[in-house]
Amino acid sequence: MLKRLPGLFTHAIGIDLGTANTLVFHKDRGVVLREPSVVAIRTSTRKPIAVGNDAKMMLGRTPGDILALRPMKDGVIADFEISEHMLRYFIGKVAKKSLFTNLVVVIAVPYGITAVEKRAVMDSAYRAGADDVITIPEPVASAIGVGLPVEEPAASMIVDIGGGTTEVAILSLGGIVHARSIRVGGDEFDSAITNYIKRSYNLIIGERTAEDIKIKIGSAYPLEQELTMEVKGRDSVTGLPRQLTLTSQEVRESLMDNLNAIIDTVKASLERCPPQLAADLVDRGIALAGGGSLIRGIDRLISEATGLPVFVGEEPLCAVANGTGKILANSSRWGGD
Ligand SMILES: Nc1ncnc2c1ncn2[C@@H]1O[C@H](COP(=O)(O)OP(=O)(O)OP(=O)(O)O)[C@@H](O)[C@H]1O
Ligand SMILES: [Mg+2]
Repeated sequence: MLKRLPGLFTHAIGIDLGTANTLVFHKDRGVVLREPSVVAIRTSTRKPIAVGNDAKMMLGRTPGDILALRPMKDGVIADFEISEHMLRYFIGKVAKKSLFTNLVVVIAVPYGITAVEKRAVMDSAYRAGADDVITIPEPVASAIGVGLPVEEPAASMIVDIGGGTTEVAILSLGGIVHARSIRVGGDEFDSAITNYIKRSYNLIIGERTAEDIKIKIGSAYPLEQELTMEVKGRDSVTGLPRQLTLTSQEVRESLMDNLNAIIDTVKASLERCPPQLAADLVDRGIALAGGGSLIRGIDRLISEATGLPVFVGEEPLCAVANGTGKILANSSRWGGD
């Protein structure tokens, strides 16, 4: 009983500090926050003026002295001060601290980050108010989050296509057997679309528009019914606003290089997989997670390229956060069962 008492005063939260989105899972309340990893600052003072949803609205639309920044790049902290501010703001929103509360944070970090990068994430969390910080590799969290039986002595494979990176991992007995990460994800998809439209039509579009196109008509595999969309931007020759009609075939074509890079990474991982585990994957297949897995037909494309069954995991955008939640729930260290 005594041993459990501190748990009564503990906020235990899991955090997915992503390049595109930050999610917070509260042990007792589930996913309590999901906001873009964006902070708007005043350039003259570098003082943050908005965080999350409010700041994302400002991306590309700010007047001269306001800058909307994304403090995470390629899955790691690019701007220490700003990321700490963001983390503090998000944590403060979900876990009110008092003298009597203990704040335990489980934070998912990309596989393969350096010790220095990991330290930076942990320090940020401590400075944002955590009393205890534990890191876990993102692929483990996302695999657990989509419900893969990672503890079993058999292979599970997860491909997490995020905003900044795609992480591919093969797991067994609760650990990572093989993993690799490439700096290709949703952000690169957006750039590819932007570049295509500029090259083909001399039309310059904003970051938000590119993401919109990807979500509305993006695909990785031919669609039964191809789609079109009106796209607005600025003509690079006349400098005037203009609009055009874009087709899903064109968008797919512009994404192909990035999609092929993901396929190559998946195949390279399979080639490095011990034969006994490779055999398991023939039946168990590959699970997809992350926002990029929502691109239409990406499961089918990867399945055809590998010859394995591929499925999009449940709640792909919440996979890592849900995984940290399950880890919190299963540990007695912070009053779980
Ligand atoms: N329906 C959709 N179709 C295509 N892409 C989508 C969709 N919804 C979200 N995305 C993209 O998913 C990406 C964000 O995914 P996610 O939240 O998993 O990334 P993250 O965890 O923040 O990044 P990382 O894991 O690389 O640090 C963004 O690029 C976003 O545009
Ligand atoms: Mg992620």
